Amino acid sequence: MSALLVYESMFGNTKAVAEAVLRGLAASGIEADFVEVSEAPRVLGDDVSVLIAAGPTHAFGLSRDRTRADAAKQAIGGLVSSGLGLREWIAGVKGTARPRFATFDTKVRRPRLPGSAARAAAKQLRRRGWSQVLPSATFYVSGTQGPLLPGEIERAERWGRELASAMSSVLLA
Ligand SMILES: Cc1cc2nc3c(=O)[nH]c(=O)nc-3n(C[C@H](O)[C@H](O)[C@H](O)COP(=O)(O)O)c2cc1C
Repeated sequence: MSALLVYESMFGNTKAVAEAVLRGLAASGIEADFVEVSEAPRVLGDDVSVLIAAGPTHAFGLSRDRTRADAAKQAIGGLVSSGLGLREWIAGVKGTARPRFATFDTKVRRPRLPGSAARAAAKQLRRRGWSQVLPSATFYVSGTQGPLLPGEIERAERWGRELASAMSSVLLA
């Protein structure tokens, strides 16, 4: 059983959460490949049991060219992701015979701020016939460029362990 984690990240926060999720998966014996979205394969091999897709919430959903350009203007250093976005990659990816997925995102913690890149990605994948193995998760940053709020890395490790357990129940059923 193996997973492929494809992430998009402007300032590094979603990437840091992705690394924590990988540690959670590894603690439960699940190996996952980890790839930035512009480097991700367009066709998934049958060895990929579950796709994990992750990205930052931009303008209430998945990033677009315009929001990525806004992020680039704000970045003090370079961007982690400077090419293709998750939205565009998902639109073209070809899954395995039984494509399964999970998604997570990062966003700022503000009351009544709706929208989630993870939920938008999940909707896009479900419409394409993929099955979701675990509800989408959101991890919070304190401002546009981060940092992650205290405890979010540990929460992401726990979510990785939950995902491992959901993968085991779905795949061994
Ligand atoms: C152009 C732009 C639009 C954003 N829109 C939202 C939004 O609608 N809701 C939200 O919670 N956060 C929003 N954010 C904050 C991002 O979610 C935050 O920058 C991201 O979680 C940081 O993760 P990253 O370092 O992996 O890019 C926005 C950020 C940018 C740059």
